[in-house]
Amino acid sequence: MSLSSTPELAIAVCQSGGLGSLGCGETELGKVRAEALQVRAGTNRPFNLNFFVHPAPRADPAVFSASRERLAPWYDKFGLGNPADAKTDGRAGFDAAKLALLLDLRPPVVSFHFGVPDDQAIASLKAAGVKLISSASTVAEAVELERRGMDAIIAQGWEAGGHRGSHRPTAPWEGVGTMALVPQVANAVKVPVIAAGGVGDGRGIAAAFALGASGVQMGTAFLSCPEAATDTVRRKLLRMARDTDTIVTDSISGRSARCRRSRHAEAMETTRKPLPDFPMMYDLTYPIISAGFDEEASFHIYGQIAALNRELPATELMGRLVEEAVAVFATLSRGRPDPMPPPA
Ligand SMILES: Cc1cc2nc3c(=O)[nH]c(=O)nc-3n(C[C@H](O)[C@H](O)[C@H](O)COP(=O)(O)O)c2cc1C
Repeated sequence: MSLSSTPELAIAVCQSGGLGSLGCGETELGKVRAEALQVRAGTNRPFNLNFFVHPAPRADPAVFSASRERLAPWYDKFGLGNPADAKTDGRAGFDAAKLALLLDLRPPVVSFHFGVPDDQAIASLKAAGVKLISSASTVAEAVELERRGMDAIIAQGWEAGGHRGSHRPTAPWEGVGTMALVPQVANAVKVPVIAAGGVGDGRGIAAAFALGASGVQMGTAFLSCPEAATDTVRRKLLRMARDTDTIVTDSISGRSARCRRSRHAEAMETTRKPLPDFPMMYDLTYPIISAGFDEEASFHIYGQIAALNRELPATELMGRLVEEAVAVFATLSRGRPDPMPPPA
């Protein structure tokens, strides 16, 4: 979870039998190295480094200036002056510098979001002994990931908090729910499937296994752990979370993401127009989401399952999740439920 994961959270998850991850998608490379070394020093177990693989954003001046105009009222509302000009450095999500760092660090696992890098990068990481995982949001994406050599595939359902891992920019209404996606992906590929999206407790884990998954990826549930880098505002929102809190919108970053509903996001969705490419759109929205309060304008990322969150240290949460899943399996395997009583 970019900007929400920490080495402490990853270490606690690894030490409890999970695959702890560092979200490196928006992290400067020196920090990635330092945090990866911290995780390596804190656990002997496998850990994962996660990267975004999006193309370099194209700077379309007409689209950028139309978006500036659309956002001008929000700038006025919060007294922010004029929206900035595009200042993105135009770099792709995964580049030669990131590959070189990974080949040097050789983490046990690397996962990708928004697709995978080119065949040469994949081959060199595999030759270095790194296991590779990537997210699919459709069956076709999962089949493509298997063809490209992924060792496991995350089937990310619609319920998931954060950016959709779709391999191309998608509209906010394009999404397959976890319940429908996981069994279809499990049928379509031979490599292990990891279910993501809406798994909040042991019942969700058991359900994912019943659907054909070999593991689960949980994000939202860990945002309430003290080890997560979740800010105090989002922690408070998570305490009050309900199933209907969130919206999928591409209006904040330029790519569809599930976050807390806000009037700004809803207004942008009801007046949809082409947006600058991810992550360029952030250049325009960052001042707004920083200045606005939660219901007005914000980018509090969490998923539809947030109401089940528990404020527990990650080790304790991991223990509870395993206990709960085992209990569900035991209950379900006790055999047929008692027959229904005959009608009176
Ligand atoms: C705060 C937050 C940040 C996220 N950042 C990333 C990320 O950087 N890379 C990634 O592959 N997935 C990211 N995700 C998505 C998760 O990997 C995962 O697919 C999702 O959390 C699963 O659904 P859940 O939130 O219902 O557990 C993020 C999710 C959240 C909640």
